[in-house]
Amino acid sequence: MKRYPHAQSALLPVLHLAQQDFGHLSMDVQQLVADTLDIRLMAVREVVTFYTMFREQPCGKYLMEVCTNPGCMLNGANEVLRHTCDKLGVKVGGTTPDGLFTVTEVECAGACGGAPVVQINGVYHEKVDAAHMDKVIEDARSGEGAGA
Ligand code: FES
Repeated sequence: MKRYPHAQSALLPVLHLAQQDFGHLSMDVQQLVADTLDIRLMAVREVVTFYTMFREQPCGKYLMEVCTNPGCMLNGANEVLRHTCDKLGVKVGGTTPDGLFTVTEVECAGACGGAPVVQINGVYHEKVDAAHMDKVIEDARSGEGAGA
């Protein structure tokens, strides 16, 4: 907080730290952030509910964030999203019963030149197609089986 002129200016980095430590931003964690920064809970809620990088619910070990904004949509993002959800047997926003995969839909990931784009645990995968997602899922599952 000492790096910023006002406590509220530290809100984004503090939320990132809180999510890193707690896994997701439950209401209790959001209240803790508000109390720590001495700002209103609503100021925290406004930020948490606006940005897709903040999660209010727990997610799987592999978070797959499919960009479906126009640049990606026109290059097959909806097919990638549908294929991934069908393969994993989840709806958008859902997590597989084994807790491994969560699939979400996000706004422009800022890498339109590589459309369609999927972020997987923060790593950008560009020019993605169904076969690429199959490989990612297969590799993740085999890595889990190998104890990785
Ligand atoms: S539209 Fe998908 S990265 Fe910009």
